[in-house]
Amino acid sequence: MTIVEIKAADLQPETFIEDQCRSISRQVGDSRAVNALSGGVDSSVTTLLAHRALGDKLLTYFIDNGLMRQGEPEAVVAAMRQLGVPVERVDARDEFFTALKGKANPEEKRQAITDTFYKTVFGRLVKESGASCLLQGTIYTDVEETVAGIKRQHNILAQLGIDTEAAFGYKVVEPLIQLRKTGVRAVGKALEMPEAMYNRPPFPGPALAARIVGEVTPGRVELVRAATAVVEAELAGVDAFQYLAILHEDRMTGMRDGKRDYGWQIEIRCWDSENAVTATPTDLPFNLLRKMAGRITAEVPGVVSVTYNITAKPPSTIEAV
Ligand code: XMP
Repeated sequence: MTIVEIKAADLQPETFIEDQCRSISRQVGDSRAVNALSGGVDSSVTTLLAHRALGDKLLTYFIDNGLMRQGEPEAVVAAMRQLGVPVERVDARDEFFTALKGKANPEEKRQAITDTFYKTVFGRLVKESGASCLLQGTIYTDVEETVAGIKRQHNILAQLGIDTEAAFGYKVVEPLIQLRKTGVRAVGKALEMPEAMYNRPPFPGPALAARIVGEVTPGRVELVRAATAVVEAELAGVDAFQYLAILHEDRMTGMRDGKRDYGWQIEIRCWDSENAVTATPTDLPFNLLRKMAGRITAEVPGVVSVTYNITAKPPSTIEAV
């Protein structure tokens, strides 16, 4: 199937919403649909569209994979409930950490997350609920980069030749697949979402695992989660596309309390971008960078080095893994 992009300039959000609601109802038919809400813009817009189309035939789940940011599971579930959409939080932390154990290779980590999400967790939820479809917020950029072989985005299935009905026992419905991020935000606004929700900086499907070089363990997630909280708090007022913290694998020599301390390295990235296809590092004030380094080394145990990425995408990518 060839996917035809709808460019932001050509998008008519109201018409798009009507068309997609009709299409979702048609594809789900008399059955029920399960919906994967992560709290990002794409999955939140998908959730509101599907709720409008299906009402209580839609079962929305937030999967707590142990890889989310500080306070995120609670905040996402509460924000969606405020909009009248029932959401169930599913604790799948052990399943994800077990699948990630011992894996350092980026593609193997991505594969482990994909398998746990689609086969183990959603395979079970779909079976238990008697649903026939899974709704998800895949967008055009995800497909493009995966098909081009740049990175396997975790939500890409059919475009890689995966027959989801045969592999997992359900059909996948992707109402936003023709849009890029700018278009998705316009649809979110037209759906009367709060601005903080439709303008939320993007966050990757593999969550903090996309920001850990090397093995993903609960302890390493804690480190990158604490660094992320500092970066997000300090950069909240900056006009940037996305900002993040990455935990490196190498230990480096530092010093603490007058003694040598082999510690961890955190890399800060902050991006200017239109649609994530290309990006340039934001020209942040040096004082702000210094302040973040001071806070991270003081607040995140064992960190002795903080760097700022000054490379553009390409050749960098936005996330590290
Ligand atoms: P990259 O790192 O490929 O990210 O330049 C492009 C945009 O997509 C977001 N994003 C993902 N990135 N794996 C990724 O590597 C995913 O599964 C994924 N989902 C979303 C990323 O945060 C950036 O905005």
